[in-house]
Amino acid sequence: MRILLLSLCIFLFINKNINAWRVFHHGRMVGGNIGKPFHYRSSKLKTIPEKWFMQNLDHFNPGNDQKWKQKYFVNEDFYRGSPSGPVFLMIGGEGEASDKWMTQGAWIDYAKVYKALCFQLEHRYYGKSHPTPDLSTKNLQYLTSQQALADLAFFIQTISAQYKLNDDVKWIVFGGSYPGSLAAWMRMKYPHLVHGAMSASGPLLAEVDFKDYFRVVDEALATSSNTCATAVRQGTTQVEILLRHMIGQRNINEKFKLCDPIDQNINNTNDVSNLFETLAGNFAGVVQYNKDNRIGKGRSNITIDSLCEIMDNDSLGPPIDRLAAVNTMLLDAYNQTCLDYKYDKMIKQYRNVSWGSETSEGGRQWNYQTCTEFGFFQSSAYSPQNFGNRFPVNFFIQQCIDIFGPKYNKDFLDASVRRTNTLYGALNIDVTNVVFVQGSIDPWHALGITKTQSLGAPAIYIEGTAHCANMYPQAADDPPQLTAARIQIAELINSWIRL
Ligand SMILES: *[C@@H]1O[C@H](CO)[C@@H](O)[C@H](O)[C@H]1NC(C)=O
Ligand SMILES: *[C@@H]1O[C@H](CO)[C@@H](O)[C@H](O)[C@H]1NC(C)=O
Ligand SMILES: *[C@@H]1O[C@H](CO)[C@@H](O)[C@H](O)[C@H]1NC(C)=O
Ligand SMILES: *[C@@H]1O[C@H](CO)[C@@H](O)[C@H](O)[C@H]1NC(C)=O
Ligand SMILES: *[C@@H]1O[C@H](CO)[C@@H](O)[C@H](O)[C@H]1NC(C)=O
Repeated sequence: MRILLLSLCIFLFINKNINAWRVFHHGRMVGGNIGKPFHYRSSKLKTIPEKWFMQNLDHFNPGNDQKWKQKYFVNEDFYRGSPSGPVFLMIGGEGEASDKWMTQGAWIDYAKVYKALCFQLEHRYYGKSHPTPDLSTKNLQYLTSQQALADLAFFIQTISAQYKLNDDVKWIVFGGSYPGSLAAWMRMKYPHLVHGAMSASGPLLAEVDFKDYFRVVDEALATSSNTCATAVRQGTTQVEILLRHMIGQRNINEKFKLCDPIDQNINNTNDVSNLFETLAGNFAGVVQYNKDNRIGKGRSNITIDSLCEIMDNDSLGPPIDRLAAVNTMLLDAYNQTCLDYKYDKMIKQYRNVSWGSETSEGGRQWNYQTCTEFGFFQSSAYSPQNFGNRFPVNFFIQQCIDIFGPKYNKDFLDASVRRTNTLYGALNIDVTNVVFVQGSIDPWHALGITKTQSLGAPAIYIEGTAHCANMYPQAADDPPQLTAARIQIAELINSWIRL
């Protein structure tokens, strides 16, 4: 079967002037890991108004009857009434839910074919879905993936009643990144409510020390050139050497445009760790979104190839200067004047519990979920450590403690991650009617299912694509294997609906 559409896949990241380490931090983009789709004619697409759903605060304590308003969107344009059409539900994740997804993206193309009624539910605590008056650590106790799944279940039941949907109407869920995991877990935990799931780029295995992340970043650089990663390693080593003395430190201040000069107290290892993690993040942020989004400005026309062209270019100077050139290119793309690497400043921002704070778009919340459920810490422990060895897993655990309190220590994290894997089965998840989609250059695929384990839950591993690539609108220059994956997913959805 064919799906016809003509659209250009572009999307905008950020237009706010924010500091570099917060644009891409801990493997998460500001706004969440799945960007807004951006259509070249999107100004002509209709806007979909926000709606509000009365939700329970705590699904697991009948004694707590507190309610709050959860944001959702609906698009009824393709639906021809039951029993003819299914219901599609896009699961919100670690960022604000965007109405742009209600009129474009692969799932909307499927919705047109199958005449689906389309909903998107924003994840509790992200975007405008504020269950509690602020983001204090005490109030964040209701921020768990289990509560989020129960939100979805309660939403499905309530909406089914409201739209008078028959029991045989099929609900299909869609999610990318963390919601990719939620989509699979939804099918596992609530099979009586959800009939099928498209799980894109979902990290199903919780892991404290996610050192394989930078292994995949390395491999992705190697797809562009086989000297690129070596140049990164040489540049990183030169930064280490310059850091040892005062003249070298001044040099680093200038080369890397640091917002605050390295005070001579270079023994503040948290600052140094943060600096190295930020420089590594320059590469990770590009790899994770490689070629997902093409647009003439911003970082979205920067690809793995652009990074490696700089790293391999001898005439730009020694490797440290090329590392600095990559840094400058990304600062410019993010519209920033300097590189912010101060640990205390970062912690202070993440400690702000106000819904009005800069990190309330999701940074503080996602940190909380990693510190209490998933880990996912992209440490420098992988080998051969092209990005240095300055951000070991303990650096991240220290952040949990400094942001949320002493309780959130290593033992707590180990236990939390074990619990998550027990609750959901990690890579041994036992489900049917789920398709797991991963891309080979997306570092997150290292925690996902990339090989079919059972016929009822096939895996599609797309060679050469990045995070959630299959979810964006089709583009003329999509690689054929991406187009094939979208068609295969459509056929699977068709088979689930007809079951
Ligand atoms: C970049 O920042 C400047 C100064 O804050 C602002 O005027 C401009 O609109 C920003 N540009 C983009 C593309 O965000
Ligand atoms: C850093 O620590 C080392 C060892 O404790 C000490 O010798 C050195 O003077 C310190 N450097 C600075 C700049 O504080
Ligand atoms: C991206 O586009 C901008 C604006 O057109 C341009 O200045 C910049 O050089 C481009 N970057 C790359 C890596 O192509
Ligand atoms: C290397 O950098 C120089 C100086 O910016 C530039 O003129 C040249 O085109 C670059 N070479 C390549 C192969 O990109
Ligand atoms: C938290 O952020 C808000 C909004 O930016 C700001 O007004 C407030 O002063 C911050 N609180 C602290 C404790 O820094």
